[in-house]
Amino acid sequence: MTTISIIGSGNMAAAIGTRAAKHGHTVELMSRNTAKAQALADQIGNGATVGTYGTRPAGDIVIVAVLYGGAVDAVTHYGDALAGKILVDISNPFNADATGLATTTGTSAAQEIAAVAPEGTPVVKALNTIFGHVLAQDKPLDAFLVGEGAEARARVAEFLASLDIRPLDAGGLEMAPVLEWAAILLMGVARNGAGFDVALAADVH
Ligand SMILES: NC(=O)c1ccc[n+]([C@@H]2O[C@H](COP(=O)([O-])OP(=O)(O)OC[C@H]3O[C@@H](n4cnc5c(N)ncnc54)[C@H](OP(=O)(O)O)[C@@H]3O)[C@@H](O)[C@H]2O)c1
Repeated sequence: MTTISIIGSGNMAAAIGTRAAKHGHTVELMSRNTAKAQALADQIGNGATVGTYGTRPAGDIVIVAVLYGGAVDAVTHYGDALAGKILVDISNPFNADATGLATTTGTSAAQEIAAVAPEGTPVVKALNTIFGHVLAQDKPLDAFLVGEGAEARARVAEFLASLDIRPLDAGGLEMAPVLEWAAILLMGVARNGAGFDVALAADVH
């Protein structure tokens, strides 16, 4: 198994970190709030560690689990410390009432993050279409992913599969707006009858 680094110490860091640890990965948490990261590492257990925010992460896969408003800042702050890693963007750039996106049409949070990531550091968007509390239930799920380079997508797909999450590769990063709108679809069905324990899935025949 591998070391997975997570930037952030909120709900998604907890859900992903806990699930990853349960499935045998070593989790490194990096947060601008070290005390919060330490508390989460203690909660996750299984050898979870805390890294210094802004320094080179231990894992080859680095999950950026910060709010959309801070994601570009966080990746910029890390700068070359992220060179050669695979960045996983899970952010949803929702507008104030989560009925649409705050990004400019034709672009996406993932592409904004890719624009500030160091050279040779592919960005893969994944897990944004799954509610954190659903992820935390540790049941089988589907996860759509898109990103820069088939190799990086395959690596993230392998990680997701190790968490009992079926990866559904939807192509290059230009597809990221679709995944961000898919999260609005998820919110829509949750609010209009399905409830918040819902998850998006594909039926593959
Ligand atoms: N919750 C969900 O169900 C869900 C589902 C799919 C995707 N997502 C996405 O996952 C990401 C994390 O969501 P969450 O629910 O975990 O949110 P959260 O519980 O509010 O945690 C957000 C994390 O982002 C950090 N952060 C915020 N601004 C930052 C900045 N400028 N620089 C560095 N760190 C910053 C926070 O640090 P502090 O604690 O120091 O403030 C905190 O660790 C978001 O982009 C969200 O859209 C969430």
